[in-house]
Amino acid sequence: MTKKFQDLDMCDPKTHDDPWEMLEYLRENEPLYWDPHNELWYVFRYDDIVEISRDPETFTSTEGNRPHLPPDPSMIHQDGEAHRKQRGLVAQGFSPKYIRQQEPHIREIVIELLTPRIPEGTMDLVEHLAAPLPMRVIGDMLGVPREKHASILELIDKFLQGGQGPQYVDDAVNEAFGAFAEHHEEMLAAIGEDPQGDDLLSRWIRAELEGEKLTEDQLLFEHTLLNVGGAETTRSALSGGLEELARHPDQYELLYQKLDDREFVENACEEIIRWVTPFHNMFRTATRDVEMHGKVIKAGQMVGLQYPAANRDPRHFKDPYKFDITRDFTTKHISFGYGSHFCLGASLARMELRVALEEFVSRIKNLRLDPAHPPVWVSSSFVRGPKSTRVLFEAR
Ligand code: HEM
Repeated sequence: MTKKFQDLDMCDPKTHDDPWEMLEYLRENEPLYWDPHNELWYVFRYDDIVEISRDPETFTSTEGNRPHLPPDPSMIHQDGEAHRKQRGLVAQGFSPKYIRQQEPHIREIVIELLTPRIPEGTMDLVEHLAAPLPMRVIGDMLGVPREKHASILELIDKFLQGGQGPQYVDDAVNEAFGAFAEHHEEMLAAIGEDPQGDDLLSRWIRAELEGEKLTEDQLLFEHTLLNVGGAETTRSALSGGLEELARHPDQYELLYQKLDDREFVENACEEIIRWVTPFHNMFRTATRDVEMHGKVIKAGQMVGLQYPAANRDPRHFKDPYKFDITRDFTTKHISFGYGSHFCLGASLARMELRVALEEFVSRIKNLRLDPAHPPVWVSSSFVRGPKSTRVLFEAR
């Protein structure tokens, strides 16, 4: 193996700061990689991630989906019947109809965020649009008072650091989660004994499936999961996508010309989600010894599904390193995962991204990166995406 890619500490955020050469090398030469620092396996090929994700009996989520971190009672750490029921209960509050109804509200939020920026001719894509938008959307759905959105987002940002592995779970992470749990209790107290509201928490408390309801613990962790899913990943897709469009003025203008073509815009959104791949990985635990690529994953060992590598796998994507909003997706990207845990918020994320692009591109022209402030990306082995992307532009 090239010396550069020996003995990688895959949980170390620095390993993923500029990951493409490493991921390419591992996918092609070490498709099942053992990280000796963290005692974790990793897979990189699209087909391997699909095979593992579609077989929860052999590769379970019930031991947790973050490296060496224990499972919590949310749906993402259940399999089989337990998973089906719990996902069903949460999905009752989060139905496709309910999500479709959010579109005008999402549009209002985007316009409200963009309007003060347009005359300025400059903005930070993360701070001014991509971070507040999904937090407001999920915060409003959950019934969180607007003045608390920014502080909740800060808490989530902090405790997500812990998702990189036990060595990253420090006091700050524990305190942030404690503060989130307190916020959850306050929300429940405000809802009271007889929840009638249209907010998600009230809907989940009311939800009943085959005579079962969510327990108190499940409610806390589903609330956390939806808040994390809602606020973190869509931010990366939107800011990372606009950043890439700023590097491709021809594609940006093409998108403007085709803004009325829903299918075209939706395809552009898929390319953005493939390109950014907001999660580096999710994990599974082997329930028996499994042979793969000439090596053995032993029962009880964890395997990381390295999504960005799979989304650049040339076996499925033509010119995988080319950003192309007209890409012909013969294979779907894998950014939302695969199988029974396929992202429950995918349609909401897609809608937020589409509406934000429609409003942004129709109001802004000549989008370009600000040469005085090069983009800075989050350093993490869990979440990918810009931390700050300053752009310059003119109003259309
Ligand atoms: C571009 C944005 C998003 C990306 C890339 C993304 C990615 C993912 C991935 C990879 C999984 C699979 C986890 C696994 O297999 O272990 C997942 C599951 C999940 N996501 Fe998302 N997500 C996004 C947006 C959202 C949003 C907006 C929400 C909710 C508001 C959400 C809620 C969930 C939930 C509840 C699950 C668990 C599903 C289950 O276990 O059955 N996600 N997401």
